[in-house]
Amino acid sequence: MNATTTAQAADIVAALLFILSLAGLSQHRTSRAGVVFGIAGMGLALIATIVLAAGEISSTATVLILLAMVLGGAIGLWRARLVAMTEMPELIAILHSFVGVAAVLVGWNSYFEVEAKGAAQTHVAGELLRIHHAEVFIGIFIGAVTFTGSVIAFLKLSARIKSSPLMLPGKNALNLGALAAFVALTVWFTITPSLGLMIAVTVLALALGLHLVAAIGGGDMPVVVSMLNSYSGWAAAAAGFLLDNNLLIVTGALVGSSGAYLSYIMCKGMNRSFISVIAGGFGIEAPAGGDAEQGEHRETNADEAAELLGEATSVIITPGYGMAVAQAQHPVAELTRVLRERGVEVRFGIHPVAGRLPGHMNVLLAEAKVPYDVVLELDEINDDFDSTSVVLVIGANDTVNPAAAEDPTSPIAGMPVLHVWEAENVIVFKRSMASGYAGVQNPLFFRENSSMLFGDAKQSVENILRALDSTPSGTGPAKAGGGSAQQPVAAGTSAD
Ligand code: TAP
Repeated sequence: MNATTTAQAADIVAALLFILSLAGLSQHRTSRAGVVFGIAGMGLALIATIVLAAGEISSTATVLILLAMVLGGAIGLWRARLVAMTEMPELIAILHSFVGVAAVLVGWNSYFEVEAKGAAQTHVAGELLRIHHAEVFIGIFIGAVTFTGSVIAFLKLSARIKSSPLMLPGKNALNLGALAAFVALTVWFTITPSLGLMIAVTVLALALGLHLVAAIGGGDMPVVVSMLNSYSGWAAAAAGFLLDNNLLIVTGALVGSSGAYLSYIMCKGMNRSFISVIAGGFGIEAPAGGDAEQGEHRETNADEAAELLGEATSVIITPGYGMAVAQAQHPVAELTRVLRERGVEVRFGIHPVAGRLPGHMNVLLAEAKVPYDVVLELDEINDDFDSTSVVLVIGANDTVNPAAAEDPTSPIAGMPVLHVWEAENVIVFKRSMASGYAGVQNPLFFRENSSMLFGDAKQSVENILRALDSTPSGTGPAKAGGGSAQQPVAAGTSAD
């Protein structure tokens, strides 16, 4: 077998490993194996590519490639070790921008190669030349949109710029106009390629990516991240065509289609149509919700919460972004263990967009070794809240907002939410009365059966664990309204 055949065989094995990786990553039980398959596939693909290239390029170029790999790998390892779980979405966004910029560079390089050598000296002679020109344009366009879109998503997610949508007049017409201009430029380029058109399409796509994501507001950022994930896949596939690399085409298509499917699942989770997300405008800062209109909230403390839990027969924990911020998953896992030992049925209700990235809560709970069989999806648990003694809302807000289900005028109306308010008692762990990610006030906090446990979630759960230590196991169901008298506090007085 010569080097080319061996590399092709390695490509097929690598593609299979990537498919196994995606299959493994789709369930938390098999996700570790999925990661291992992915690493193995990527390792094999890199070795095959370098071995194949080494036959055609100088030894200096091979050394430079290896040097770039070591440098890139070291930076990647360093960042991956440092990044906090809460910063993962912005890390993903910036990584997508690298794929985008790589696709743009591959497109430009491919154009210059054909210009310099003349089509006859390349693999795109004859009729293939026009197809090649179209591929160059498509690769550059998707890559540049992905690049600026991902940079804006990174800046918004890391709060370096405001997450509210940019609302230019006629913004949808601008986006559609840019798409039409791209099609026209592509046709023109396939007939008479020129450097001027290359610059025009690059600038057009950079501007479109910037505007497209700038026009999308905070609440829709999760969909944007997975949409950019999909774009980066298609950009890689386009680069694969230009480089005549089958594995890159297969891998790009896998990333592109799985990202698109993830976007679809998330749109469903937020009750948003994909088109309305792209059209943007959602996530505008809601006017600061007047607590006076909402009524009064009640406060509780760790001792009262422990007492309530001591008497409960069933508990559902609904974690959200605040659990990730507080890194409360370990004490939450310990609380689960302690309550289950006391004979309390404890389960978790996970909203599809809880936290800041798909599967965020599942990863944290798995890290803290919470048994998988008590971690349930929204659809699996939503009918059980009305027969539950106590719900612990740990750092969740938008995902448990009854306004989504009950107020058709709410900005998040129609978004599926966990029906926590149907339980006998609800304890909300947060630091203040501040709104959640979508900037929408939450009527849950003012319900009769809700009480607020203010403070850092990790600290609060640890306090409850200490209090439970001195509380004997309960025998009956929890009483509505909490174990002991709660002090009504005028709403809207809590610190930020
Ligand atoms: P959010 O609505 O973001 O609310 C999180 C709550 O946690 C806040 O109200 C905050 O209140 C509290 N909190 C923050 N730090 C805390 C701490 N140390 N201790 C205790 N509480 C703390 O959370 P959610 O219910 O998980 O909803 C997720 C939201 O993010 C949705 O709107 C979703 O669309 C959006 N989003 C999701 C994703 C994905 S894919 N999951 C990605 C991007 C955006 P205080 O400040 O008062 O403490």
